[in-house]
Amino acid sequence: MFQALKPQPEDKILALMQKYKEDPRDTKIDLGVGVYKDANGQTPIMRAVKAAEKTLWEQEQTKSYVALAGDPAFSDAMVQLVLGDAVDRAAVSAIATPGGTGAVRQGFDLVKMANPNAKIYVSDPTWPNHLSILKHMDMPFTLYRYFDNDTRGVDFDGMMADLAQAQAGDIVLLHGCCHNPTGANLNMVQWGEVIALLQKTGAVPMIDIAYQGFGDGLEQDAAATRLIAKSVPETIIAASCSKNFGIYRERTGILMAVCQDTSAKGLNQSTLNYLNRQNYSFPPDHGARLVTMVLNDPALRADWEQELEDVRLSMLTLRKSLADELQRLSGSDRFGFIAQHRGMFSRLGTSADKVELIRERHGIYMVGDSRLNIAGLNAKTIPLLAHAIIDCGV
Ligand code: LMR
Repeated sequence: MFQALKPQPEDKILALMQKYKEDPRDTKIDLGVGVYKDANGQTPIMRAVKAAEKTLWEQEQTKSYVALAGDPAFSDAMVQLVLGDAVDRAAVSAIATPGGTGAVRQGFDLVKMANPNAKIYVSDPTWPNHLSILKHMDMPFTLYRYFDNDTRGVDFDGMMADLAQAQAGDIVLLHGCCHNPTGANLNMVQWGEVIALLQKTGAVPMIDIAYQGFGDGLEQDAAATRLIAKSVPETIIAASCSKNFGIYRERTGILMAVCQDTSAKGLNQSTLNYLNRQNYSFPPDHGARLVTMVLNDPALRADWEQELEDVRLSMLTLRKSLADELQRLSGSDRFGFIAQHRGMFSRLGTSADKVELIRERHGIYMVGDSRLNIAGLNAKTIPLLAHAIIDCGV
């Protein structure tokens, strides 16, 4: 039977992680996978998470099952974190999922059940795994223009022209903040125009928000998601706790189905529960429990918010230092976009050949589409990267 299996395309980001591991050079620099690293190159456990973990170890009495949707307290805390008071809590159905990827997968499954003919509109480019999952699920998708390679900003006119083609019941996949892989984002005026278009076409937004707190701040990064959720009849939201709580391997995420018609909540919630049961039964609890403890304890929450803010500001400093160093070396402002982008990533907008040259010549690893993980840099590596970028003719 297994002879019938065909080799599957490798995930570009994970393949790069492996290549990096195998590189013997001790001067190598990893700017590939989206993991935050501090100035010492470590991915620390956040203080509040560590404290919650200690309390949990001391106080937890059982590892028995919780509930198909996960702990309701986790859903409440996350709905509040992502949506604030934008919508009535009774409008939101939610399930805990294994990471943000689990939420995305469950969200697509939900779409497939509700409207098997839905076409999914996906930004060009997007996180490669969005496309990979859609292909695996055999769901129809189409790309909408997003990144303008000349300005390294958003091709907003192209995006709007492409999204105008969507039909009622189609899905528009949006990045709530900190677009991955480009770092280029819409402003609030543009979000308003996207909402008006969604209202006109009847397409349903599905928002992937994996970096809340990494861009302009916890509240600001959720602003577009909140505005969308309160402005259209239905919204699907896949949120991740991997990055903003630094609990990558705990696999903690949540899928929300927002429906202004609160009478649909029973059906929506039971459908989400059903999806969890079919795909993996009960969702993982440990990370979700830590997140709930941090969000619901005022002292832990204040400490978490402070540490997250420090992480965010450090990434902004890294962006500015890299843009300044490139300006110094190139004598031009053409890399100024790096300071304008937000989140963990920036897309340089150069060719795969140059990305490979930078890797071979300088041992600096970034994804082939020229996405670099800003959070993988530090004061020592910024001059090395800037030199490599100029040396390789970017
Ligand atoms: C990334 O884009 O690097 C992260 O979201 C990690 C992943 O799973 O790809």
